[in-house]
Amino acid sequence: MTNPMTLTVAERIEDRGGILRLRLTGDALPPVTAGAHLDLHLPALDLWRQYSLCSDPAGTGAYEIGVLKDPASRGGSEAVHRLAVPGASFTVEGPRNHFPLEETAAKTVLFGGGIGITPLIAMAHRLHALGRDFTLHYCTRSEGVTAFLDVLRTAAFVDRVVFHFDDGAAAQRLDLARDLPAPEAGTHLYVCGPQGFMDWVIAAAEAAGHAGSHVHREYFSAEIDATGGTFEVEAAISGITVTVGPEDTIAKALARAGVKIEVKCEEGVCGTCVTDVISGGIDHRDCFLTEEEREEGEMICACCSRASGPKLVLDI
Ligand code: FES
Repeated sequence: MTNPMTLTVAERIEDRGGILRLRLTGDALPPVTAGAHLDLHLPALDLWRQYSLCSDPAGTGAYEIGVLKDPASRGGSEAVHRLAVPGASFTVEGPRNHFPLEETAAKTVLFGGGIGITPLIAMAHRLHALGRDFTLHYCTRSEGVTAFLDVLRTAAFVDRVVFHFDDGAAAQRLDLARDLPAPEAGTHLYVCGPQGFMDWVIAAAEAAGHAGSHVHREYFSAEIDATGGTFEVEAAISGITVTVGPEDTIAKALARAGVKIEVKCEEGVCGTCVTDVISGGIDHRDCFLTEEEREEGEMICACCSRASGPKLVLDI
């Protein structure tokens, strides 16, 4: 199957916590790796939305995703809840993997908050199949809003899953002083969930001595401020220079001048808009690039990041 592809809703499960679970089928689905996501198009809203695959990567014939109904979003998740009835079709790109699993790690600890559990379920399937040492910590507000309970409580790796409910007894809540492993060379951590949860786990892991390159993260959405001072952007290959105003973005300013940079999430989490930088300082506003990539200063997320100086030259 070639991208973009058309996938059909084979099954719809309304799970706890406002999470809709979808089983999507199509002909000759491309293989997936743990941590991969799909880009799903919502033409009426002119939006692309990213959803992590939670199914066993070894499975064939269907992809499974979970979609949290988020009234604070730009309408994407509500549209999926409304439109994704059995038999409905969606245009989908992917699967792509910006959150790959280090499959040779001696020890892996997965931290999922709410809907952030989805890519970690796929990782747990894979780690179990490989016979690796791993633990999956799943944090939610209460058992009553915890989706995928049936999946995890009947999984072959159920003995690796630790549930943490905010409204439960103190001893079963996530305690990073207790639940973070020791920072050893063969240990890798994976974090996915709401931004505050992720920031908390990542900060604690780094304070405990885990190398940044061993603390893997994937943001589903981010509250970013893409505004700032005015600067110029030169598209070197196109030979066009534009001005990016305080409320503008590089991608939008270039699009008005006929230079198209593809965007999907428009909030610095998916990486679709990453563009090579030839010269100029970068004010990174995204959650996608790694610390190392930021320090190299050779790439920018054009949907939200800005220049730190008067001018940026892009390789486009
Ligand atoms: S469009 Fe998703 S990071 Fe820019």
